[in-house]
Amino acid sequence: MLNFTFHNPTRILFGEGQIAEIAQEIPAGARVLITYGGGSVVKTGTLDEVKRALKDFTVLEFAGIEPNPTYETLMKAVELARSERVDFLLAVGGGSVIDGTKFIAAAVPFTGEPWDILAKQAPISEALPFGSVLTLPATGSEMNGGSVVTRKATQDKLFFVNPLVYPRFSVLDPTKTYTLPPRQVANGVVDAFTHIAEQYLTYPADAKVQDRFAEGLLLTLIEEGPKALAEPENYAVRANLMWTATLALNGLIGAGAPQDWATHMLGHEITALHGLDHAQTLAIVLPAMLQVRREEKRAKLLQYAERVWGLREGDEEARIDGAIAQTRDFFESLQVPTHLSSYGIGAEAIAPLLAKLEAHGMTALGEHQDVGLERSRAVYALAV
Ligand code: NZQ
Ligand code: ZN
Repeated sequence: MLNFTFHNPTRILFGEGQIAEIAQEIPAGARVLITYGGGSVVKTGTLDEVKRALKDFTVLEFAGIEPNPTYETLMKAVELARSERVDFLLAVGGGSVIDGTKFIAAAVPFTGEPWDILAKQAPISEALPFGSVLTLPATGSEMNGGSVVTRKATQDKLFFVNPLVYPRFSVLDPTKTYTLPPRQVANGVVDAFTHIAEQYLTYPADAKVQDRFAEGLLLTLIEEGPKALAEPENYAVRANLMWTATLALNGLIGAGAPQDWATHMLGHEITALHGLDHAQTLAIVLPAMLQVRREEKRAKLLQYAERVWGLREGDEEARIDGAIAQTRDFFESLQVPTHLSSYGIGAEAIAPLLAKLEAHGMTALGEHQDVGLERSRAVYALAV
């Protein structure tokens, strides 16, 4: 097992009705800015429920944080938070709203150009405290210190990670996910699945409980994902899905284990240039990535084939082929297509994607830092 330091400070309020408890998590007298997206939380009544819980606070609102949140929009919230002397943020929505709120939290007290937090990994020394009410199980943003923001003007989708931007608390009420469109439910399953793959499908490091934990989460997604689509208001299914997605990227399974993340980096460029949903890009890239890197991932792919997909027959190559095929079939079964061409994108897209990877310094990716531009080209080519 690799050395690690693990600390996760986010308090989780899990279950139906937990929004009512948030007032106890926010300092008395705080001026709270509620941030949300394109209006789903207005339609579903979640915003009203949050406002009722905050009746004793001064509350302001910022709407319109888009999927793949943009710097351009978020900077308007930064101005509002500064001018209104906001001292607590509350994100109500999916990963985009939470990620956007993390950027706002870091940018408000930042003295330079906030884009540098992403583009130059400029250090931050403080951030506004914030909480979240999650409405879409997928990203794990509700219990981690990562944030991904897009600059629309330049089509750059970049991330920053900082312990100062863990949410103070997150409400995970599975009933708040009943209204999700099937596409977003499926996206959530694919995103969580890929987060686990990025931390599990690398090389053996004798991290036994992390491996078995990862396998348990993958099996749960395979069991519950299709049910979540078939029975949108099945509380038990939504509860399991929600907690699985959180555990997939809250640091637990990655502690002491090698991590990859090349699939995410290649996927981010596809979203930035072509606007696909985050999870759609992962469904495209992951099967191709596993195929191109099957040699260095051999031992873990065989373990994955056996323990997750029950593949014990045939030689090693056949079992690895089987595991990659099952992964692709699972994504397709959720109606998330796994080829660029299914989204109308052809081989002509590869050169611009590689140019963006290069511009972003993404030239030594993966658990061995050996995924350079040529291997990324092979992955994109296989993904067409
Ligand atoms: O904007 P509204 O109107 O709220 O609608 C949203 C949005 O259109 C809708 N939605 C959310 N909850 C709903 C709902 N509709 C009905 N009922 C509900 N309960 O769903 C749409 C997508 O929302 P979004 O927040 O964009 O999705 P997701 O949670 O998948 O977040 C994706 C973003 O997270 C980043 C991605 O790159 C992408 O920008 N990621 C963040 C990570 C992190 N912080 O650790 C890790 C991930 O790998 C990922 O990169
Ligand atoms: Zn992801």
